[in-house]
Amino acid sequence: AVPAREQWTGQIGFILAALGSAVGLGNIWRFPGVAYENGGGAFLIPYLVALLTAGIPILFLDYAIGHRFRGSAPLAFRRIAGKLGEGVGWFQVMICVFIAIYYTAVLAWASSYFVFSWDLRWGDDPAGFFTGDYLQVAAAPITFDFVPSVLIPLVIMWIVALVVLGAGVVKGVQRANVVFIPLLVIGFLILVIRALFLPGAIDGLTAFFTPDFAALADPSVWIAAYSQIFFSLSVAFGIMVTYASYRRRRVNLTAPGLVVAFGNSSFELLAGIGVFSTLGFFAHQQGIGVGELEGLTGVALSFMTFPAIVSQMPGGEWFGALFFGALVLAGLTSLISILEVVIAAVRDKFGLTRAQVVYGLGGVLAVVSILLFATTSGLTALDTIDNWANNIGIVASAIAVSIVILWVRRAGPELAGHLSVLSTFKVGRIWLALVSVVAPVVLVYMLVSKIVELLTDGYSGYPTAYLGIAGWGSVLLMIVGAVVLTATRWRHDPELFEPWP
Ligand code: PHE
Ligand code: NA
Repeated sequence: AVPAREQWTGQIGFILAALGSAVGLGNIWRFPGVAYENGGGAFLIPYLVALLTAGIPILFLDYAIGHRFRGSAPLAFRRIAGKLGEGVGWFQVMICVFIAIYYTAVLAWASSYFVFSWDLRWGDDPAGFFTGDYLQVAAAPITFDFVPSVLIPLVIMWIVALVVLGAGVVKGVQRANVVFIPLLVIGFLILVIRALFLPGAIDGLTAFFTPDFAALADPSVWIAAYSQIFFSLSVAFGIMVTYASYRRRRVNLTAPGLVVAFGNSSFELLAGIGVFSTLGFFAHQQGIGVGELEGLTGVALSFMTFPAIVSQMPGGEWFGALFFGALVLAGLTSLISILEVVIAAVRDKFGLTRAQVVYGLGGVLAVVSILLFATTSGLTALDTIDNWANNIGIVASAIAVSIVILWVRRAGPELAGHLSVLSTFKVGRIWLALVSVVAPVVLVYMLVSKIVELLTDGYSGYPTAYLGIAGWGSVLLMIVGAVVLTATRWRHDPELFEPWP
């Protein structure tokens, strides 16, 4: 018998899963700092423009491709544009492989810090504790000594993710999101409300929202807005294609898309309010201005600045546990979505069962992740691969989709029709112009300026040879992987998972 493609049980299951993918580390540790550094309150203008002109239109494009052509990224793109399309799909899969490998490491750290919160384990020097006692960062970028404090949570995170994925789309992915997302929202709301009542919170909020309209004249502010939107909505890496392929035949596509997009942005804004209230308290404690604080984004914000703040707060143990618990839940649901892209693609092409791919290939990825990131050089590698995968990989992939699907194969009108037939919110010429002209133009500009910047200035002061291997080498491996995977024979009859008639 022909196995039917797995399906979400309903609209809510899909929305929660898609929201779970979108709401991730980027909302909590990336958005607040990026907004603050790029115009504060004024950043909301380029951010909204990026959301409306590129984020939501490309989100719809992903949904239309995944649903109409009913496949993982390589299968769906192959059905639209043959081998060239399949290659773009595998490139997205390769990006997901790289991201999954380091994203899990960050989750492992967050889960350690959830435990550390209860006894403020980081002591008086949280920054020194993080790179020293905890990560044991080596002086040279490449040394492979195991760090047991990271190894254990990393193994646990991989087991949790693979067990959820092994249980399937409904019993695993959907169920995990149905439990985790409400838990995340409730926990995070408590955190933000607590933060608002801290002394100095208002100074933090003032710093966050005060608009610097002059910043809007700077192109780099607009680039920051577009790249935040792309990363934050999880578009153009095959995730939304894959998730949409598990929807029923007759479904509204655009309305849930709007719910996911605005839900994700609301969570981002909420995180900005929570994080900056907390930073306001920190500045207040030290009797300095919020502007003098450092370490306001990413790894530094979460694992250095936040622990220092938690230590100074009455009841800080709870606050820390809520913060790191939120990071784990937000990150875990995103990680699951990234891995599902890989699993679905390999299943579609090679005709394997879910269990074979999850525990076989998933196990291999887990081992690679552990070898790379449970060692003393983990932090440097993570930082480098993250920068290249996001700023080069995803942007290039979004450009490739637009060129191959909309310009070479001219599938735009068909996809617009597909989106509009069943959906309440219809799309037409404006949508088509946004995805085929506006977004790619912005993306090409972003890609070129990023490549020039990386080639001329390097990155984070790391040695050039190291960046060549870890950064550019990663992108090269993604391309080579995509070419090889496209060239291999389909073991699985692609018609087995038929597209909707
Ligand atoms: N969208 C997620 C966030 O905002 C990040 C993510 C990246 C999710 C890649 C899936 C894949 O953090
Ligand atoms: Na997000």
